[in-house]
Amino acid sequence: MNVLIVGGGGREHAIAWKLAQSPEVDRLYAAPGSDGIAAVAECTPIDAMDFEGLAALAKARDIDLTIVGPEQPLVGGIADYFEREGLKVFGPKKAAARIEGSKSFAKALMKKYRIPTSHYETFTDYREASDYLHRTGAPIVLKADGLAAGKGVIVALTIEEAEQGLKTLMKDKKFSDAGSRVVIEEYLEGEEFSLMALVHGENVVPLAIAQDHKRAYEEDKGPNTGGMGAYSPVPQIPPSVVEKAVRTIVKPAVSGLAQEGSPFTGILYAGLMLTKSGPKVIEFNCRFGDPETQVVLPRLKSDLAQTIVRLMRGEVPSLSWTDENAVGVVLASAGYPGDYKKGEPLGDLDALPKDALLFHAGTKKSGSGWLTNGGRVLLVARLGKNLQDARDVVNRDMESIATDAVFFRKDIGHRALKAEAQKK
Ligand code: AMP
Ligand code: GLY
Repeated sequence: MNVLIVGGGGREHAIAWKLAQSPEVDRLYAAPGSDGIAAVAECTPIDAMDFEGLAALAKARDIDLTIVGPEQPLVGGIADYFEREGLKVFGPKKAAARIEGSKSFAKALMKKYRIPTSHYETFTDYREASDYLHRTGAPIVLKADGLAAGKGVIVALTIEEAEQGLKTLMKDKKFSDAGSRVVIEEYLEGEEFSLMALVHGENVVPLAIAQDHKRAYEEDKGPNTGGMGAYSPVPQIPPSVVEKAVRTIVKPAVSGLAQEGSPFTGILYAGLMLTKSGPKVIEFNCRFGDPETQVVLPRLKSDLAQTIVRLMRGEVPSLSWTDENAVGVVLASAGYPGDYKKGEPLGDLDALPKDALLFHAGTKKSGSGWLTNGGRVLLVARLGKNLQDARDVVNRDMESIATDAVFFRKDIGHRALKAEAQKK
């Protein structure tokens, strides 16, 4: 079959890399793709929001299946558009993608189907929101009610931070439309993890879990980012907790969506907190996680293309995984997640050992070398017999390509290593 991947970041590179290994896939395309993705798929510079252009490409190239990476086209209705054009998509339609696109929709769904999550209130009025903050006190979490690329969330540890955050979200209109409704929710304490599942209707195939590192700097300091690195498995989250999360969170969400008349097809991503009273939902996403995908897919031994096709036929395929530990470290432009420069030179990426899995996010080819072209530049992932080994090797890879124009966290996986050290 011929497959089209929509998007052009590190996650899409990992999806393309995995699909390229499948004997089921004849031709692989990406739009817009990237100079990095071009190593495994034919790239066409069509924007992920240009549904008409993408559908025309899919028809011209005899695409049998389209996989959508980013949330914006899904929330904007790409799956509905493709279906009307008679094209098959592994991704939710607009109504189901609201589980990511609208936090208030997601929260209402969780309430109705008794899915464990933090208590919350939604506000459109600044005064009422501010009064509520003062009644509940800190720590507390504020979220813009729309898509804000992971940057519309403020975890306020003091009431002053909460007040300031509310102003940023509601008054400065920093998030324009996304900030006109604000969700204020209970702060959850515990260990965070990401559980993704391949979903079709009521059928659910969970993937191995991963843990992201959202803060920009080591020891989880600094501003929230789109993710600075990830690892899988996550040994401090026991299998019984994952099993419980699938049973009490993922499955009820999926059957809830179906009962509401908006069945989900695609990847359902649950961002979870293991609290004292069990796993609770921080957020749902309607797509593969970034950078989680870059460490989860390298551990998947099963054929991804075949699995998706079987799932969409109504089967529930089982998956097999390597026991090896995957660690992925993001190389980011100096200044990210704030302002940063583009077009800065990188070290010799072609000199990386072949066991280093290189996933491009924001790079550009220039002659025989590579330049930075985004906030998150690339991710290198390694598989190792244990987490420490994998991380040591990947950190050496990073040292060999880093320049003054970029930075990376050397402590990816620190929570697992600390938990292991405590057990000993
Ligand atoms: P989100 O974009 O919703 O994933 O939020 C970004 C990050 O903020 C999450 O990965 C968590 O680390 C943190 N966060 C979000 N909501 C909460 C919450 N209710 N309690 C504690 N931390 C949270
Ligand atoms: N890594 C978090 C996300 O993909 O939203």
